[in-house]
Amino acid sequence: MAATTLGPSTPFGIDFGGTGIKGAPVDLEVGDFAAERARIRTPKPSTPEVVAGVFRDLLAQFPGSDGPIGVTVPGIVRHGVVGSAANIDPAWVGTDADALFTEATGREVHVVNDADAAGLAEVRYGAARGRRGLVIVTTLGTGIGSALVHDGVLVPNSELGHLEIDGHVAEKRAANSAREREDLSMADWAERLTAYYHHLERLFSPDLFVVGGGISKRADEFLPLLGLDTEIVPATLRNKAGVVGAALYAAGSAGGA
Ligand code: BGC
Repeated sequence: MAATTLGPSTPFGIDFGGTGIKGAPVDLEVGDFAAERARIRTPKPSTPEVVAGVFRDLLAQFPGSDGPIGVTVPGIVRHGVVGSAANIDPAWVGTDADALFTEATGREVHVVNDADAAGLAEVRYGAARGRRGLVIVTTLGTGIGSALVHDGVLVPNSELGHLEIDGHVAEKRAANSAREREDLSMADWAERLTAYYHHLERLFSPDLFVVGGGISKRADEFLPLLGLDTEIVPATLRNKAGVVGAALYAAGSAGGA
């Protein structure tokens, strides 16, 4: 495997999701995997300790990799400590994930919110590459994740999926899981998305929206239905965004606090 060709400080990205834990070393020159990605099914329950064990197994598949590790978590992350768990095991709240994973793997680990990782990756390598001003990257999945990136600088933990709109938590009505759960037509879902993105327009006056999450591969079925004043485009890194963004984050944080 290509792991033998890794440079000594090639960062490694791990995307911790509800169904799979994916990881690969990342070539930051091009924003792509430097070796074939590995995937392990997310265990149930997926408490921090259990997940740390999975990370060890995953890393064992890349003996040539010894750079810093970035890990995505679908929750608030402040200085390595997880602060919310809307769609993951409640045991994550209050966990110092940087410390736990650094201890478990013997490597330098930096944890980042999943949407923030995707946002960093899309701005550096993907749909918002080279764009200045305010880019809002949203991921439409089980929840709604968000990344606010201004002139390439991330403002972390924006959590715009949890805005209350018309008395509802936005992600409960507008995430892709709501479309599936309520069996909404694309037209009906697009109406909810329009209300959501209009709200974001009023609050932030962004220059660009980027829409990620698995459903973004069907963007042509719903993005044209949104009546917005702001340009809105699908993410381009697709399911690589988490791993690539996590590695990018780790490389930027390595050696720091
Ligand atoms: C969480 C966010 C996360 C998003 C997407 C939300 O429920 O609060 O932290 O980014 O889901 O996974």
